[in-house]
Amino acid sequence: TTTTTTATAGHQNWSSRWAFVLAATGSAVGLGNIWKFPYITGENGGGAFVLVYLLCIAAVGLPILIAEIMLGRKGAKSPIASMRDLISKHNASSGWVSIGAIGTLAAFLILSFYSVIGGWAINYVGYTVSGDFIGKDGDAVGGIFGAMLADPSSLLFWHSVFMALTLFIVARGVKGGLEKAVTWLMPALFALLIVMVIYAMTTTGFAQGVSFLLTPDFSKLTQEGVLKALGHAFFTLSLGTGVMMAYGSYLNHDVSIGRTSITVGLMDTVVALVAGLAIFPIVFANGMEPGAGPGLIFVSLPLAFGSMSLGTIIGTLFFVLLVFAALTSAISLLEPSVEWLEERSGFNRVTATLVAGGAVWFLGIATVLSLNLWSDVHPLGMIPAFEGKTIFDLLDYVTANIMLPLAGLLAALYVGWVMKKEEVAEELSLANGPMTLFWNVTRYITPAAVIIVFMNSIGLLG
Ligand code: PHE
Ligand code: NA
Repeated sequence: TTTTTTATAGHQNWSSRWAFVLAATGSAVGLGNIWKFPYITGENGGGAFVLVYLLCIAAVGLPILIAEIMLGRKGAKSPIASMRDLISKHNASSGWVSIGAIGTLAAFLILSFYSVIGGWAINYVGYTVSGDFIGKDGDAVGGIFGAMLADPSSLLFWHSVFMALTLFIVARGVKGGLEKAVTWLMPALFALLIVMVIYAMTTTGFAQGVSFLLTPDFSKLTQEGVLKALGHAFFTLSLGTGVMMAYGSYLNHDVSIGRTSITVGLMDTVVALVAGLAIFPIVFANGMEPGAGPGLIFVSLPLAFGSMSLGTIIGTLFFVLLVFAALTSAISLLEPSVEWLEERSGFNRVTATLVAGGAVWFLGIATVLSLNLWSDVHPLGMIPAFEGKTIFDLLDYVTANIMLPLAGLLAALYVGWVMKKEEVAEELSLANGPMTLFWNVTRYITPAAVIIVFMNSIGLLG
């Protein structure tokens, strides 16, 4: 562990490299890995999608993770204010502020629906602890999920509980709140996922589940699937949201950003793949549809908990840990707005947290209603890519597939083309070989990959 030099006055730093790794992993590992990755993999045909996703993580996600943490640490303020300072230092165009601005807005929008899903998970703690799934078949478990979605007041209630927990942690500040929350939760969640994989091995669907996840069938890959794989690489690593910049702003200068980023990226990827290994065998063993959508884990896992021994304990623990994993991501999603409000308005941390959180909570009502009363409201339905999408679908689609890749692309371009190679090399303290690799990837490969996927998907707009 390292020292506690303070980067900027009034700015409390992480207490060690390890604390930062935990917090960044806490942000990365969340509903994206356990809820979203399996269901979008299911919707996009499995192995080929997973392969593209892994490529996106390596060629796009990792370089941008490094770039964003570096920009944040250099700026040592909120993403927006950091970009303003860097821009004047580098004599660059003020347009680059959009890296911070798009990101801060995207994080705000994501949290509004992330919290609703977090609320589902809290609700499911209640279901599992009271044994609601014991002995139920797929239809019955699906019925419980459907009934939850159909009830706006209960969705609103659990969304409110989730937001309240998030605000409570964020208001306590970086050291008091964020660090403590992640230290033991991540390993515990991982251990339970392994338990689920072991259970999955005993089901009749194991071989089929593994092959679905790992055997690429490129005939099932669409252009939209490629865009979604890219978008999910951003979402899962918390990129393009200002989150990694905001966390980087609390990072000491003696920490190796390259090494740290690889650790975070690996842990995130492993958790997603293990979640897939736990879920798909259960899906196939029970004759469920892998493309069932956002309800996938909320039906497949309870089915397993309902029929395995110790299912009530394991299931309860699982959803408790899922809630915590979601919370450590949610607090990171609120951080860019809070940090910005603190600087901008002079609010203290608690007030800034309440103002930003209140606004997110209010917007979350739109997602709650999208699942029932407004399920037929499709605001941008005249655009082919948005056809049939509810407000919830749109918030998810536009943030993950457009705003995040765009903000991340700009971050890569800023580091690769505005900053000087010497400055970047010094900041990352990389040896010549890795630095040359990072430099070329960030300048050419990462931007080219994002731009090509974007260009290809323009067709979706019709
Ligand atoms: N990475 C988080 C997850 O996978 C979600 C998230 C996205 C968090 C963007 C912060 C910023 O669940
Ligand atoms: Na993730």
